[in-house]
Amino acid sequence: MHTDAPELEGHLAALADKLSLEQKVRLLSGASIWSLHEEPAIGLRSIVMSDGPSGVRGVSMDDRDPSASLPSATAVAATWDVDKIRRLGALIAAEARAKGVDVVLGPTVNLHRSPRGGRHFESFSEDPWLSGVLGAAYVRAVQAHGVAATAKHYVANDSETDRFTVDVRVDERTLREVYLAPFERMVAEGGAWLVMSSYNQVNGATMSANPLLREPLKDEWGFDGAVVSDWTAVRDTVESASSGQDLVMPGPDTAWGEALVRAVRAGQVDAAVIDDKVLRLLRLAARVGALDSVAPVADQPAPWSNAEIRSLLREVAADAMVLVRNDGLLPVAPAAGTRLAVIGHHARRGRNQGGGSAMVFPEVVVSPLDGLRETFGEARVGYAAGVIPEPELYAFERNSVVDPATGAAGVRVRYLDAEGTAFDEEIFPTGRFGWLGDERLARAATIEVTARYTPAADGLHRIGFSCLGEVVFRVDGRVLSSDTVRPEDDDVVKAIMHPPAQVFDIELESVRPVDISLTLRPELPGGFPIARVTLGTEDVYGTPAQELERAVRLAADSDVAVVVVGTTENLESEGFDRSALALPEGQDELVRRVLAVNPRTVVVVNSGGPVVMPWLEEVPAVLLTWFPGQEFGGALADVLCGATEPGGRIPTTWAAAEADVPVWDVEPRDGRLDYTEGIHLGYRAWLRLAAGGRPAPAIPFGYGLGYTTWRIGEPEAVENSDGSVSVVVDVANTGDRAGKHVVQAYLSVSGPSAVDRPVRWLAGYAVVRAEAGQTVTARMEIEPRALRHWSAERHEWLREPVTFEVRVGSSVTDLSAPTAISPARR
Ligand code: BGC
Repeated sequence: MHTDAPELEGHLAALADKLSLEQKVRLLSGASIWSLHEEPAIGLRSIVMSDGPSGVRGVSMDDRDPSASLPSATAVAATWDVDKIRRLGALIAAEARAKGVDVVLGPTVNLHRSPRGGRHFESFSEDPWLSGVLGAAYVRAVQAHGVAATAKHYVANDSETDRFTVDVRVDERTLREVYLAPFERMVAEGGAWLVMSSYNQVNGATMSANPLLREPLKDEWGFDGAVVSDWTAVRDTVESASSGQDLVMPGPDTAWGEALVRAVRAGQVDAAVIDDKVLRLLRLAARVGALDSVAPVADQPAPWSNAEIRSLLREVAADAMVLVRNDGLLPVAPAAGTRLAVIGHHARRGRNQGGGSAMVFPEVVVSPLDGLRETFGEARVGYAAGVIPEPELYAFERNSVVDPATGAAGVRVRYLDAEGTAFDEEIFPTGRFGWLGDERLARAATIEVTARYTPAADGLHRIGFSCLGEVVFRVDGRVLSSDTVRPEDDDVVKAIMHPPAQVFDIELESVRPVDISLTLRPELPGGFPIARVTLGTEDVYGTPAQELERAVRLAADSDVAVVVVGTTENLESEGFDRSALALPEGQDELVRRVLAVNPRTVVVVNSGGPVVMPWLEEVPAVLLTWFPGQEFGGALADVLCGATEPGGRIPTTWAAAEADVPVWDVEPRDGRLDYTEGIHLGYRAWLRLAAGGRPAPAIPFGYGLGYTTWRIGEPEAVENSDGSVSVVVDVANTGDRAGKHVVQAYLSVSGPSAVDRPVRWLAGYAVVRAEAGQTVTARMEIEPRALRHWSAERHEWLREPVTFEVRVGSSVTDLSAPTAISPARR
């Protein structure tokens, strides 16, 4: 067994030497959608990859093998707590191993450049330093357990519009200080074993063949891992293979393979370049324990119990919630006999996660309504939707469907060949299932799905399906659809994850089950062996006026109203950007109408990224939950009743109105998206605008309330001999309960500077916890890099001889007077 580093490198090189060119090249492309090839000749087993980042989906895309659904990245970032990330990372690694996964495709550390970014929920922050700190913590946490993390998407994949082709134009300094910075930290400090190159171009070259893959990633930063492509990003052979791109996913058919062998033989691609890629792959294999001659770097993590998973996820979800307003209404003690009106579609169908490749399939999601009923008592919690959400097909849940043939729980699926003979069959646990790289999908001419469904209540039901291909859909033998369902546009990921739905209104009785069947000749988008089917129901509503009236009446008859509002799958997901930040479907009106009849109204916002809240100043309490993962409802109840303090501080600025947003544009022009704002994104842009008299944001970066109050003392800042700065400040809990605070340190330059600089920038923070009345000392180490800028003339980091000063406080706009940095002590 090889473990010693220099000896290991020699061993890996010797293994590579045993391989022919064909064998080497074969290893560089996917064997399937999620796996790489094995090579028994050198004791290499197949390496399995999986999305990520907020949980581990595994290789199936349905409910057969459920996954823990973690809070999304904006939620995790709102905790600012690397210790929480360490524990989440341990869970991710354990989930990965339990599912046979070696590589988790996360974290995502693109930046919140514009609030319109469709995958905003999947990235941490608008601040490059904070993103890097949290990303590196994620990488370290997962890899400590011998599972690889993947820093993605390298680089400038900060929005989704035309993501496969857009040419992001960004100047050298901005690239270094802003967009590359989190990746640098994940490599240099986190020690990431993989980096995923992104779909887009940067400054004229597609990222899967971009010079940035070598310089700075591999040469300057010393990245010794492998660069994996984003799925289907590599479409050429010579250019991408000659670049720093190492692995091409998915397989088995890629632009490399035999074409690359020929290109090497023809002298178009250097054989040494292939050897370097193979060595990187073998290094990855050694790290994740896929080489039988190398001892794994870590012991196999033990599986977590369900109770352990649920307890951590509930704790983190609550710690991520940001209380942005509270006139004293919160917390609401359940013992007081309070009657709660729980209002809003999101209260019953809260969004635990964002859409797209980050989706996982948890066994259970606790809705806000269920969580509040559990804590406040079923009888004291009333519910009304208040609005009619956009239609969504919800899969038949476990135990609502049985196989009509045997009565066993689940949905029966039969695979038929061209002659109509069934060659296989199986039972799926719910009405949501699919196939990924499953050879039966290619072999089946027809797939037959049957289920017996028992509705929970009498009345009008809306039953339907979603999938792609030729379908015949029947209920109790009656044909309701005979059609060919095609994707809505040419985004392959969207077509796979969200095939169009068809639904039908039917009167049903709860005592009388109905037989449902779907006969499908699947259509495979982009030719990939992937298909997804949902059989289920849409919620049925009255008229908008009836729904609103019902909610208003309930609110008027209750002591406290909790209105849960939020975004939808069609607003925040992968593959497209947001066109607006307003809450959809009349939810603003719902808040106002409820507030008008019940002044004790709490608004809970369930979104992954910013929304505008025109009622913010009128509502007594407003809580942001992000996409909090599967334990949403329990965590929300803990926070509202005061069992737990909302621990979050906002990691990205929220605007009061769309018109105020400094960086709005995500649409390429002539294929180009210019990052004209340079280094001034997020709060840096807001501060510059404020200096020009423009409106302040609704919620400034770093802001959030808890259930206690704090006094921050006079900070002291001392420069150390290595150029770092130590900041020390006393923080007193002045309230009457224990709490958490995030003390932040920002740098700025006093006096003139020849360098274009942000008004101030985050350079350190400390998560402090203190008992009521207790004073604790917060210590923050500001790194030398925080005082440097990237010189595009000299192509290096420089420290301008100017005077830097430090401000300490509770948000980017709630800070102490500037503190001078004392010179280094001798
Ligand atoms: C996404 C990646 C993801 C990959 C595999 C791509 O569309 O951009 O983040 O890891 O699909 O699902």
